Amino acid sequence: MATNRKNFELMGGHIEWHDSIGSTNDRACEIVREEGSRAHGWIVGTEEQTEGRGRKGAHWISEPGKGLTFSLVLSPPWGREHWGWLSLAAALAVCEGGLLPCGLAPLIKWPNDVLVEGRKICGILIETSGDCAVIGIGLNVNERGFPPGLEAVSMFQLLGVETGREYLMGAIRDKLMDFLHLEEPLIAERAWDLLAWKDKEVETASGERGRIRGFGENAELKVESPGRLITLSDPEGIRLVPPVG
Ligand code: BTN
Repeated sequence: MATNRKNFELMGGHIEWHDSIGSTNDRACEIVREEGSRAHGWIVGTEEQTEGRGRKGAHWISEPGKGLTFSLVLSPPWGREHWGWLSLAAALAVCEGGLLPCGLAPLIKWPNDVLVEGRKICGILIETSGDCAVIGIGLNVNERGFPPGLEAVSMFQLLGVETGREYLMGAIRDKLMDFLHLEEPLIAERAWDLLAWKDKEVETASGERGRIRGFGENAELKVESPGRLITLSDPEGIRLVPPVG
Protein backbone atom coordinates (compact mmCIF):
# COMPACT_ATOMS: atom_id res chain seq x y z
CA MET A 1 0.00 0.00 0.00
CA ALA A 2 1.51 3.33 -1.05
CA THR A 3 1.90 5.90 1.67
CA ASN A 4 -0.95 8.38 1.49
CA ARG A 5 0.82 11.60 2.34
CA LYS A 6 -2.49 13.43 2.77
CA ASN A 7 -2.94 11.40 5.94
CA PHE A 8 0.12 13.11 7.41
CA GLU A 9 -1.95 16.31 7.60
CA LEU A 10 -4.62 14.46 9.58
CA MET A 11 -1.96 13.06 11.92
CA GLY A 12 -0.71 16.57 12.73
CA GLY A 13 2.78 17.38 13.97
CA HIS A 14 5.94 17.79 11.95
CA ILE A 15 6.60 14.96 9.52
CA GLU A 16 9.46 14.92 7.01
CA TRP A 17 8.92 12.09 4.54
CA HIS A 18 11.51 10.96 1.99
CA ASP A 19 11.37 8.72 -1.06
CA SER A 20 14.88 7.54 -0.28
CA ILE A 21 17.42 8.48 2.38
CA GLY A 22 20.54 6.96 3.98
CA SER A 23 19.26 6.57 7.53
CA THR A 24 16.27 8.30 9.11
CA ASN A 25 18.17 8.28 12.44
CA ASP A 26 21.04 10.22 10.86
CA ARG A 27 18.66 12.78 9.40
CA ALA A 28 16.77 13.09 12.72
CA CYS A 29 20.09 13.69 14.56
CA GLU A 30 20.91 16.38 11.99
CA ILE A 31 17.55 18.06 12.65
CA VAL A 32 18.25 18.02 16.40
CA ARG A 33 21.60 19.71 15.76
CA GLU A 34 19.72 22.44 13.87
CA GLU A 35 16.59 22.78 16.01
CA GLY A 36 17.53 21.47 19.46
CA SER A 37 14.65 20.36 21.66
CA ARG A 38 12.17 22.31 19.48
CA ALA A 39 12.25 19.13 17.39
CA HIS A 40 10.46 17.19 20.15
CA GLY A 41 7.79 15.06 18.43
CA TRP A 42 9.20 15.52 14.91
CA ILE A 43 9.29 12.52 12.61
CA VAL A 44 11.59 11.60 9.72
CA GLY A 45 10.26 8.72 7.65
CA THR A 46 11.11 7.17 4.32
CA GLU A 47 9.95 4.75 1.66
CA GLU A 48 13.49 3.46 1.22
CA GLN A 49 16.54 3.51 3.46
CA THR A 50 19.90 2.91 1.80
CA GLU A 51 22.14 2.93 4.91
CA GLY A 52 19.69 1.69 7.55
CA ARG A 53 21.41 0.98 10.84
CA GLY A 54 20.55 -1.60 13.48
CA ARG A 55 21.79 -2.20 17.00
CA LYS A 56 25.36 -3.34 17.65
CA GLY A 57 26.56 -2.03 14.26
CA ALA A 58 24.20 -4.22 12.23
CA HIS A 59 22.56 -3.11 8.98
CA TRP A 60 18.80 -2.73 8.83
CA ILE A 61 17.40 -3.77 5.48
CA SER A 62 13.78 -3.09 4.66
CA GLU A 63 11.92 -3.57 1.38
CA PRO A 64 11.19 -0.15 -0.16
CA GLY A 65 7.56 0.91 0.19
CA LYS A 66 6.62 -2.09 2.31
CA GLY A 67 8.10 -1.63 5.77
CA LEU A 68 7.55 1.28 8.11
CA THR A 69 10.87 3.03 8.59
CA PHE A 70 10.95 6.18 10.67
CA SER A 71 12.66 8.07 13.49
CA LEU A 72 10.94 10.09 16.18
CA VAL A 73 12.73 12.87 18.07
CA LEU A 74 11.97 13.14 21.77
CA SER A 75 13.09 15.56 24.42
CA PRO A 76 12.11 13.45 27.45
CA PRO A 77 11.12 15.25 30.64
CA TRP A 78 13.20 12.66 32.54
CA GLY A 79 16.76 12.95 33.86
CA ARG A 80 19.33 11.19 31.64
CA GLU A 81 19.78 8.49 34.24
CA HIS A 82 16.24 7.35 33.43
CA TRP A 83 16.56 7.28 29.64
CA GLY A 84 17.01 3.51 29.73
CA TRP A 85 13.22 3.37 30.06
CA LEU A 86 12.91 4.77 26.52
CA SER A 87 13.82 1.33 25.15
CA LEU A 88 10.94 -0.45 26.83
CA ALA A 89 8.58 2.50 26.31
CA ALA A 90 9.31 2.47 22.56
CA ALA A 91 8.74 -1.28 22.25
CA LEU A 92 5.58 -0.94 24.30
CA ALA A 93 4.34 1.86 22.04
CA VAL A 94 4.83 -0.39 18.99
CA CYS A 95 2.85 -3.15 20.74
CA GLU A 96 0.06 -1.07 22.27
CA GLY A 97 -0.19 1.56 19.53
CA GLY A 98 0.37 -0.58 16.44
CA LEU A 99 0.17 -4.35 16.85
CA LEU A 100 -2.37 -5.13 19.58
CA PRO A 101 -5.11 -2.95 18.00
CA CYS A 102 -4.60 -4.95 14.77
CA GLY A 103 -5.31 -8.18 16.63
CA LEU A 104 -1.72 -9.43 16.87
CA ALA A 105 -0.09 -10.86 19.99
CA PRO A 106 3.32 -9.18 20.25
CA LEU A 107 5.97 -9.80 22.88
CA ILE A 108 8.92 -7.62 23.80
CA LYS A 109 12.35 -9.23 23.70
CA TRP A 110 14.38 -7.09 26.06
CA PRO A 111 15.55 -4.46 25.55
CA ASN A 112 13.37 -3.51 22.61
CA ASP A 113 12.88 -6.07 19.85
CA VAL A 114 9.26 -6.93 19.19
CA LEU A 115 8.39 -10.52 18.30
CA VAL A 116 5.23 -12.19 17.08
CA GLU A 117 5.08 -15.99 17.09
CA GLY A 118 8.77 -16.01 17.98
CA ARG A 119 9.85 -14.04 14.91
CA LYS A 120 11.07 -10.45 14.82
CA ILE A 121 8.52 -7.95 13.54
CA CYS A 122 10.16 -4.74 14.76
CA GLY A 123 13.62 -3.45 15.61
CA ILE A 124 14.35 -0.23 17.47
CA LEU A 125 17.57 1.80 17.53
CA ILE A 126 17.79 4.59 20.10
CA GLU A 127 20.50 7.22 19.83
CA THR A 128 21.10 10.48 21.64
CA SER A 129 21.70 13.80 19.98
CA GLY A 130 22.19 16.85 22.20
CA ASP A 131 19.31 17.03 24.67
CA CYS A 132 17.17 14.70 22.58
CA ALA A 133 16.74 11.01 21.99
CA VAL A 134 16.16 9.72 18.47
CA ILE A 135 13.94 6.65 18.41
CA GLY A 136 14.47 4.76 15.15
CA ILE A 137 11.77 2.21 14.41
CA GLY A 138 11.73 -0.42 11.68
CA LEU A 139 8.42 -2.29 11.59
CA ASN A 140 7.71 -5.08 9.10
CA VAL A 141 4.30 -4.18 7.74
CA ASN A 142 3.42 -5.20 4.17
CA GLU A 143 6.36 -7.43 3.18
CA ARG A 144 5.30 -10.72 1.52
CA GLY A 145 8.37 -12.57 2.73
CA PHE A 146 12.00 -12.34 3.88
CA PRO A 147 15.27 -13.86 2.71
CA PRO A 148 15.81 -17.41 3.99
CA GLY A 149 17.63 -17.55 7.32
CA LEU A 150 16.09 -14.32 8.60
CA GLU A 151 13.80 -15.02 11.57
CA ALA A 152 11.47 -12.17 10.59
CA VAL A 153 7.76 -11.79 10.03
CA SER A 154 5.51 -9.00 8.74
CA MET A 155 2.02 -7.91 9.70
CA PHE A 156 0.84 -8.91 6.20
CA GLN A 157 2.12 -12.46 6.66
CA LEU A 158 0.19 -12.73 9.93
CA LEU A 159 -3.00 -10.87 9.00
CA GLY A 160 -3.32 -11.57 5.27
CA VAL A 161 -4.18 -7.92 4.55
CA GLU A 162 -2.16 -4.76 4.08
CA THR A 163 -2.03 -2.16 6.84
CA GLY A 164 -1.62 1.59 6.27
CA ARG A 165 1.80 2.62 7.44
CA GLU A 166 0.78 6.24 8.17
CA TYR A 167 -1.89 5.03 10.57
CA LEU A 168 0.62 2.85 12.41
CA MET A 169 3.21 5.61 12.59
CA GLY A 170 0.74 8.10 14.08
CA ALA A 171 -0.54 5.61 16.64
CA ILE A 172 2.99 4.61 17.73
CA ARG A 173 4.11 8.24 17.97
CA ASP A 174 1.07 9.24 20.06
CA LYS A 175 1.51 6.28 22.44
CA LEU A 176 5.20 6.90 22.94
CA MET A 177 4.70 10.60 23.59
CA ASP A 178 1.98 9.73 26.14
CA PHE A 179 4.35 7.29 27.87
CA LEU A 180 6.73 10.17 28.63
CA HIS A 181 4.14 11.32 31.18
CA LEU A 182 3.80 7.93 32.89
CA GLU A 183 5.58 6.99 36.09
CA GLU A 184 8.34 4.43 35.49
CA PRO A 185 6.66 1.68 37.58
CA LEU A 186 3.70 1.86 35.22
CA ILE A 187 5.90 1.46 32.15
CA ALA A 188 7.63 -1.44 33.94
CA GLU A 189 4.32 -3.09 34.77
CA ARG A 190 3.00 -2.84 31.22
CA ALA A 191 6.29 -3.95 29.66
CA TRP A 192 6.46 -6.89 32.08
CA ASP A 193 3.00 -8.03 30.91
CA LEU A 194 4.31 -8.25 27.34
CA LEU A 195 7.83 -9.47 28.08
CA ALA A 196 9.03 -12.55 26.16
CA TRP A 197 10.73 -15.49 27.88
CA LYS A 198 9.64 -14.61 31.43
CA ASP A 199 9.55 -18.17 32.71
CA LYS A 200 12.21 -19.52 30.42
CA GLU A 201 15.91 -20.11 30.93
CA VAL A 202 18.01 -17.50 29.13
CA GLU A 203 21.74 -17.11 28.51
CA THR A 204 23.54 -13.77 28.70
CA ALA A 205 26.16 -12.62 26.19
CA SER A 206 28.86 -13.64 28.70
CA GLY A 207 27.46 -17.19 28.91
CA GLU A 208 25.69 -17.03 32.28
CA ARG A 209 22.33 -18.73 32.56
CA GLY A 210 19.31 -17.81 34.65
CA ARG A 211 15.67 -16.78 34.72
CA ILE A 212 14.30 -13.29 34.11
CA ARG A 213 12.99 -11.79 37.36
CA GLY A 214 12.26 -8.13 36.60
CA PHE A 215 13.69 -4.74 35.67
CA GLY A 216 16.29 -2.59 37.41
CA GLU A 217 16.10 1.12 38.21
CA ASN A 218 16.90 2.18 34.66
CA ALA A 219 15.13 -0.67 32.85
CA GLU A 220 18.08 -3.07 33.10
CA LEU A 221 17.12 -6.75 33.02
CA LYS A 222 17.41 -8.73 36.25
CA VAL A 223 18.33 -12.36 35.63
CA GLU A 224 18.51 -14.76 38.55
CA SER A 225 21.19 -17.38 38.12
CA PRO A 226 21.90 -19.93 40.86
CA GLY A 227 23.08 -17.93 43.86
CA ARG A 228 23.11 -14.46 42.36
CA LEU A 229 21.11 -11.78 40.59
CA ILE A 230 22.70 -10.52 37.36
CA THR A 231 21.85 -7.01 36.14
CA LEU A 232 22.07 -6.70 32.38
CA SER A 233 22.21 -3.36 30.65
CA ASP A 234 21.97 -2.61 26.96
CA PRO A 235 23.77 -3.46 24.62
CA GLU A 236 24.22 -6.90 26.15
CA GLY A 237 21.73 -9.33 24.74
CA ILE A 238 20.11 -12.52 25.87
CA ARG A 239 19.19 -15.68 24.05
CA LEU A 240 16.70 -18.35 24.90
CA VAL A 241 18.24 -21.63 26.07
CA PRO A 242 16.56 -24.38 24.03
CA PRO A 243 14.79 -26.96 26.24
CA VAL A 244 16.70 -30.25 26.51
CA GLY A 245 15.16 -33.37 24.92
C1 BTN B 1 17.72 -3.49 15.35
O1 BTN B 1 16.87 -4.36 15.47
O2 BTN B 1 18.93 -3.78 15.29
C2 BTN B 1 17.29 -2.06 15.27
C3 BTN B 1 16.84 -1.69 13.89
C4 BTN B 1 16.38 -0.25 13.79
C5 BTN B 1 16.04 0.12 12.37
C6 BTN B 1 15.44 1.49 12.29
S1 BTN B 1 14.71 1.80 10.72
C7 BTN B 1 14.54 3.49 11.10
C8 BTN B 1 15.77 3.91 11.87
N1 BTN B 1 16.83 4.35 10.98
C9 BTN B 1 17.88 3.54 11.05
O3 BTN B 1 18.94 3.69 10.38
N2 BTN B 1 17.66 2.55 11.90
C10 BTN B 1 16.37 2.67 12.54
